[in-house]
Amino acid sequence: VQNPGQRRHASKHRFFVVDLSQALFDFVIQLLPTAEEMAVKEDVRKLLERLIRTIEPDSRLLSFGSTANGFSLRNSDMDLCCLIDSGERLSASDLVTMLGDLLERETKFHVKPLPHARIPIVKLSLDPSPGLPSGIACDIGFENRLALENTRLLMCYAMIDPTRVRTLVLFLKVWSKRRKINSPYQGTLSSYGYVLLVIYFLVHVKNPPVLPNLQQMPPLRPISQEDTHIGGHNTWFFDDIELLCQRWQSSNTESVAELLIDFFRYYSRDFSYNTGVASIRAGLLKKESKGWQNDLSNSKFNDARERNRFCIEDPFETDFNVARCVTKEGLYQIRGEFMRASRILAMRPRAIMALSQLCEE
Ligand code: CTP
Ligand code: MG
Repeated sequence: VQNPGQRRHASKHRFFVVDLSQALFDFVIQLLPTAEEMAVKEDVRKLLERLIRTIEPDSRLLSFGSTANGFSLRNSDMDLCCLIDSGERLSASDLVTMLGDLLERETKFHVKPLPHARIPIVKLSLDPSPGLPSGIACDIGFENRLALENTRLLMCYAMIDPTRVRTLVLFLKVWSKRRKINSPYQGTLSSYGYVLLVIYFLVHVKNPPVLPNLQQMPPLRPISQEDTHIGGHNTWFFDDIELLCQRWQSSNTESVAELLIDFFRYYSRDFSYNTGVASIRAGLLKKESKGWQNDLSNSKFNDARERNRFCIEDPFETDFNVARCVTKEGLYQIRGEFMRASRILAMRPRAIMALSQLCEE
């Protein structure tokens, strides 16, 4: 039984989360790309595909990342992947060099081929123009089939509960960019990493879960090894979302604001950064069991330690730590931001104020 003070407190909290949920929807909606922007991007993809086919007639150019998984913000970059279906083909770095030359000759894009990068890509950009007020930026890679599959996995998770999943992810993307903790080149975490943190939280931390684990559901029919493996990695997941939604419904009814508050609390207080690995495939794992421990006593592991301060397992490439770029300072900054966000929300300011304060640049 609650006393009047507790009742007042609980009812204030209920009002706060209702307001905050509405404010989050409104905030996110105005950041979505316009239909026009999506159309321009699709035109660019088609144009580039036509050009690439003059070098490799059997190629397809597919989009992945945010343009393809439903987590795209206005003016976000376009990630493209070129697949070549014919048997013999040039190496990725030769293709990057040739495509770079071709695009330089035939288009108005600024072109920057990176044939010797870990994953060779061509970087393209167009300056802003009246029809395209913020220009366009795009990376073209080759044969990155795992990225196409992990994009499809994230898209399927978004489709199961579009309102809550997309609102949370899009808000956290904006928040992390404005707070300057979304930059793997500067020691913090990529958008892809933040999306995995959200899914991990919704599948494995929330009880009852908001999302099922698509990689652990029983398949509808027997599946063969070659259908499900890419380069030795198991990429199978349950992808019949229509059927899934007929048979499975989350019994978690929390609002998007409640989930966001809890997300910040979990990652500022409860996640075990020192020993834990967040895996959307398998739940909370131990660094030790993956050989990702940060052994402070042994200088031989110095490098490994730097790479494994924060551990997020890639859903398919399970020996790949998506957060390997996060440095000691980067992690300190990220955790500081989770705590700051928790603190702001705990004070329950007016919802609109809360969001602008959270995302203050
Ligand atoms: N990706 C990956 N491994 C990583 C980082 C990225 O496979 N370590 C792939 C994923 O397929 C991801 C895509 O690259 O969906 C794009 O990653 P990223 O740019 O971080 O995410 P976006 O959703 O495109 O975010 P943004 O709008 O910030 O570009
Ligand atoms: Mg991207």
